[in-house]
Amino acid sequence: MSTHLQTTDSLATDEIKNDSLSLPSLVAALESVNSAPSLAQIYQWLEKAEVSNEELQPYSGFKDGNYWRHRVCRNKFVEMLVLCWRPGQRTPIHDHNGSHGGVKVCRGLLWETTFNYDPFAGLVYKSARELPLGSVTGSDVPDIHQLGNPDVSGQDLVTLHVYAPPLGVLHTYKPGSAQIDLYVPDETDQMI
Ligand SMILES: [Fe+2]
Repeated sequence: MSTHLQTTDSLATDEIKNDSLSLPSLVAALESVNSAPSLAQIYQWLEKAEVSNEELQPYSGFKDGNYWRHRVCRNKFVEMLVLCWRPGQRTPIHDHNGSHGGVKVCRGLLWETTFNYDPFAGLVYKSARELPLGSVTGSDVPDIHQLGNPDVSGQDLVTLHVYAPPLGVLHTYKPGSAQIDLYVPDETDQMI
């Protein structure tokens, strides 16, 4: 009986393992789409993603001044990036201007702060939370947020991002201000 239970458990474990997605499998999934994947689909991919350090290595690079974006793949429906953050590095406050997306924490600890926007009151703080290793979070349209590696984390952060459709011109915000600025990430020195 115990042997049977062990076998069942082993099978279940194998099924879970087989359901996981390596980085190449994830790239293949993204390259096979013929329309922009839903946020639910992106969540499902990222929840299943088990990306090894070896797979991340080509996209692992840090800068002193700002976090560094590394594109893994992109087509007209979806894109995937690896972002590398030293402690204290963070995005501007932004939305994705019509794109939705998900993030998985591959190494380190991610802080996310969210905001509400009112045309009269301007940008107002909403919430903050901490996302440990393995966490998945997402941004729907028109969510406004800021991501970062806390300066007190004492460790580097590596995150995996999937956006659909690929990011274009983004909106950036300032606390207490109703002003919205446009921002185009530079392909050679990308910032969001
Ligand atoms: Fe974002």
